[in-house]
Amino acid sequence: MNPKGTNPVKDKKKTAKDYASYFQTTYQPPSLKDAKKRGKEEIKIVKDFVIEEELRTIGKGKKFYIRTYGCQMNEHDTEIMAGILGDMGYDPTTDMMEADLILLNTCAIRENAENKVFGELGHLKPLKVDKPDLLIGVCGCMSQEESVVNKLLKTYQQVDMIFGTHNIHRLPQIVKEAYLSKERVVEVWSKEGDIVENLPRVRKGNIQGWVNIMYGCDKFCTYCIVPYTRGKERSRRPEDIIEEVRHLARNGYQEVTLLGQNVNAYGKDFEDMTYGLGDLMDEIRKIDIPRIRFTTSHPRDFDDHLIEVLAKGGNLVEHIHLPVQHGNSEILKLMARKYTREHYLELVGKIKKAIPNAALTTDIIVGFPNETEEQFEETLSLVKEVEYDAAYTFIYSPREGTPAAKMADNVPMEVKKERLQRLNSVLNDISLRKNQAYLDTVVEVLVEGESKKKPDVLSGHTASNKVVNFKGPKHLIGKIVKVHINDAKTWTLSGDLIEEKAGVLEG
Ligand code: SAH
Ligand code: SF4
Ligand code: F3S
Repeated sequence: MNPKGTNPVKDKKKTAKDYASYFQTTYQPPSLKDAKKRGKEEIKIVKDFVIEEELRTIGKGKKFYIRTYGCQMNEHDTEIMAGILGDMGYDPTTDMMEADLILLNTCAIRENAENKVFGELGHLKPLKVDKPDLLIGVCGCMSQEESVVNKLLKTYQQVDMIFGTHNIHRLPQIVKEAYLSKERVVEVWSKEGDIVENLPRVRKGNIQGWVNIMYGCDKFCTYCIVPYTRGKERSRRPEDIIEEVRHLARNGYQEVTLLGQNVNAYGKDFEDMTYGLGDLMDEIRKIDIPRIRFTTSHPRDFDDHLIEVLAKGGNLVEHIHLPVQHGNSEILKLMARKYTREHYLELVGKIKKAIPNAALTTDIIVGFPNETEEQFEETLSLVKEVEYDAAYTFIYSPREGTPAAKMADNVPMEVKKERLQRLNSVLNDISLRKNQAYLDTVVEVLVEGESKKKPDVLSGHTASNKVVNFKGPKHLIGKIVKVHINDAKTWTLSGDLIEEKAGVLEG
């Protein structure tokens, strides 16, 4: 590090810019204000991504380690960064201690997600003492927040690189800068960049693959930081998506999950055609790949055409993740979800009618500002009415810069925790009951690997996304097999493999 000028750490009035000019050469900080803007300008599709010759050997003999927090979007970004680093000569390692380059791909969705990252950075500090050449980078959604970048610059000297979600394709240049200047590099774009199509990637496994169909979110739910960290909605062209899914199918992948923060808005930004998620799914279902999933759906844009296409079944799985967030229309209004309890229930009714075996899952927030006991009880009653197969439940966490953060966070923590517990207990009862309905039936399971707890047990998912454990030989990993269910718990099903010999099923 090459300190310049007066040390701003000693001066409380100094801003991030002052820290920046003191601590590093490259400085492009985030701005939540800019991240909120939604311009009309067209997004360019770039297909000629290349890593310059001189950067292709920069990582030779060195190892990288990436820790990923947050959603599938981040998991997939990590696969891309692993691909880029591989093309720069780096080898992956699963042991953080032997890495020469460590990246934390972060999530900003709730305060505890951020605290985990700050905690991990604390653990990494001593590593730099033993290995002065170690590079530590923070990327992902937290890097898009001004307050986080300020905090990192001020108190986390061990961080060498900070970059965001819109410029992971700039990783080669950022790493080079960090090596050459030996100073901190901050490069965060608050305006989304182009869609870069041909980025390398190293996928985690060869059974299931993620495929981005769109980036960003324009919904601006009042509690949510994602529209600021991921930018405006941009859809990939259908032909590029279809080619990627075909490529996975050709390479033996059994399942594809189409990704977006709000996949139901897919295509709304196309100016040259009217084309939506229903149209895309109708084309993708013709590709020879056993299972196609998508996540996440916003109830508001879930249209009849999509329901019609999903009802065709085949490789379109009967699992729909449909976050409701709350069961009371007034709170939904405060959340700016733009649907009411009644609209949501009507949509669920339509889905259940068209796809009778549909498994529905959801996300729910408790303790949003002003949530009364009666309003919370409406969440409980909605959950009972829909009968979700499973749900992710969260305690509301104010995110700086979002509209809800200006509302008083006035539900006491004990009340939030108590509501969360009551909600989970209702959800768990329903999950158990739904799982028990599988007893004594035969399900098709995509075998994904060994069970985490018992290595002699294989584990996988049904098309409806139920976890199934059973004993069987390892060569079945990556295949779809039939299992007779004989035990049902709240989270998992277990059973016996039905051996298939010469086309004859043996129980
Ligand atoms: N795009 C998806 C979800 C993105 S975030 C959707 O719209 O459904 C995943 C979940 O985190 C959200 O569905 C919401 O339930 C939860 N979440 C988002 N912001 C939150 C906050 N500030 N506090 C608590 N939970 C939050
Ligand atoms: Fe966040 Fe709402 Fe967008 Fe989902 S739809 S990412 S909850 S703003
Ligand atoms: Fe987290 Fe960013 Fe995903 S905030 S949930 S990693 S889009």
